[in-house]
Amino acid sequence: MKRQLLDRNDLRIKMISIHKAIKEELNDIFRIEQLSFKPKDAFGIGQFKHFFNGKKRSSDLYVVLALNLVIGYFIIRYYEKSNRIYSIAVNPEFRQRGIATLMLDKIHELSVGKNIILEVRKDNKVAIDFYKKHGYKEEQIIHNYYKDGMSAIKMRKVFDEIQG
Ligand SMILES: CC(C)(COP(=O)(O)OP(=O)(O)OC[C@H]1O[C@@H](n2cnc3c(N)ncnc32)[C@H](O)[C@@H]1OP(=O)(O)O)[C@@H](O)C(=O)NCCC(=O)NCCS
Repeated sequence: MKRQLLDRNDLRIKMISIHKAIKEELNDIFRIEQLSFKPKDAFGIGQFKHFFNGKKRSSDLYVVLALNLVIGYFIIRYYEKSNRIYSIAVNPEFRQRGIATLMLDKIHELSVGKNIILEVRKDNKVAIDFYKKHGYKEEQIIHNYYKDGMSAIKMRKVFDEIQG
């Protein structure tokens, strides 16, 4: 029902907001997770519960809403000298419209003065291209990182001193 409120081809002029997730949004987040990752790689709903509403103080779970529809989420983990993109995903129906870029902008805003690191499946070309477009560099291959044996590429973004 909610979906009828949104013209997907006209998303840019619709109300988009980004905020820390609340409990009521967990099912929508979990749905995006299931649509975005292989079953072996996807987080369970119990794992998400640890991240919302500041339950785990070293991390945050954010969502993007278009009108009242959850269309994307990310988890950021905070370390002393760097932050880590622990997960990020956009509902497949709303991809390639700048939603992940909006989330990355927020991640960068939360990371002033720090590097940002992440791991991505070596076969996830779309995500690798996405990160490269935003200045992330491949740093290391981590073999056998995922449950199916796939390697991860560790990527890092280093900001200039004058990052605002
Ligand atoms: C990776 C992901 C988050 C990108 O989300 P998105 O909202 O579609 O990304 P954006 O619209 O902000 O794309 C920005 C750039 O990323 C690249 N990109 C995104 N989707 C792409 C695709 N299907 N093919 C090629 N490049 C793509 C492009 O460079 C794009 O810039 P452009 O629009 O100027 O061409 C999304 O594809 C997704 O949820 N994938 C499944 C989950 C996942 O793999 N997460 C990453 C785990 S590390």
